[in-house]
Amino acid sequence: MDPVLRHEITSRGTSYILTLSKQDLSSVYPGLVRYQVSVSSGGQVLARSGTNSYEYSPTVPLTAEQVARDMAEAWERKLEADPEKFLAAHKIQGVKAPTGVVTDVVVIQGSPRADGNCSILAGWTVEAVHATGRTVQVIYPHDLNIHACIGCYQCYNTGTCTFEDDMNNIIGAIRHASLLVVCSPVYTNSVPGDLKLLIDRCQAYHADQTITGHAANGKKGLILSVAGRKGKTHFSCITSVIRAFMRNVGIKPAGELLIDGVDEARDIRNLKNLKEDIRALIGKTFNRKN
Ligand SMILES: Cc1cc2nc3c(=O)[nH]c(=O)nc-3n(C[C@H](O)[C@H](O)[C@H](O)COP(=O)(O)O)c2cc1C
Repeated sequence: MDPVLRHEITSRGTSYILTLSKQDLSSVYPGLVRYQVSVSSGGQVLARSGTNSYEYSPTVPLTAEQVARDMAEAWERKLEADPEKFLAAHKIQGVKAPTGVVTDVVVIQGSPRADGNCSILAGWTVEAVHATGRTVQVIYPHDLNIHACIGCYQCYNTGTCTFEDDMNNIIGAIRHASLLVVCSPVYTNSVPGDLKLLIDRCQAYHADQTITGHAANGKKGLILSVAGRKGKTHFSCITSVIRAFMRNVGIKPAGELLIDGVDEARDIRNLKNLKEDIRALIGKTFNRKN
């Protein structure tokens, strides 16, 4: 981050350093600038807060820089007046660590149908991963509590979302896994709503990688999709949405299995060799160097 101001404050015999710094993230999103105010003493950060230029609507007469400068000024006054009171009120809240299961592979089963075609694909994927000796879990967005992203851009201040729901564990699982498999049916030329909620909320993972500079490395992604209509064109939105999602969080799209014309049958098990195709795709993905 680039320094904007740095003040040394001595209050009740202790010296503190108050800084305001900024990070230009316009290479990620046009015009996005992040500001951080922090107070440290003896090399330890005691209080921290931030804001960014995407948090302010054009109808609000505020700019991120002015808000950050005002915050720095107010903090300085409070620190000078009563450092104990200030520090008690601005204690750094630790980010809640994910408590969910972590595995080598994460499968996201995007269909709301628990026993539908994508569920069968997810089951075959689990068998194929187990055959390689790796661990795997299946995440069903439809069964989980995932609030829609509200576009507040607060995640570009802290790397975390304002909502505390099942996404914390989902991002924890994706962060740990080396392979992400997304199974999705085609719903009105796109992905089902529950899966889209999960995809959008992974913006916090993208924000975390952006502001810390710790990009996800060496992760791969596979897309398995089923459409009722015949023809590969029906997958164009699915593949563009899921590939964009993967790239957004540093996962390299590494393969796809797109199965069309599975509507009348309503049972993907009628198709020959599909289970073997999945096993081959998983094996190939792990064996390939990049
Ligand atoms: C709400 C809804 C919208 C759908 N839209 C499309 C579509 O746009 N194109 C298509 O080819 N199939 C469409 N389908 C058919 C599904 O893609 C197909 O039935 C698929 O096999 C369902 O997979 P699942 O059993 O994993 O849910 C739609 C199905 C539903 C329920």
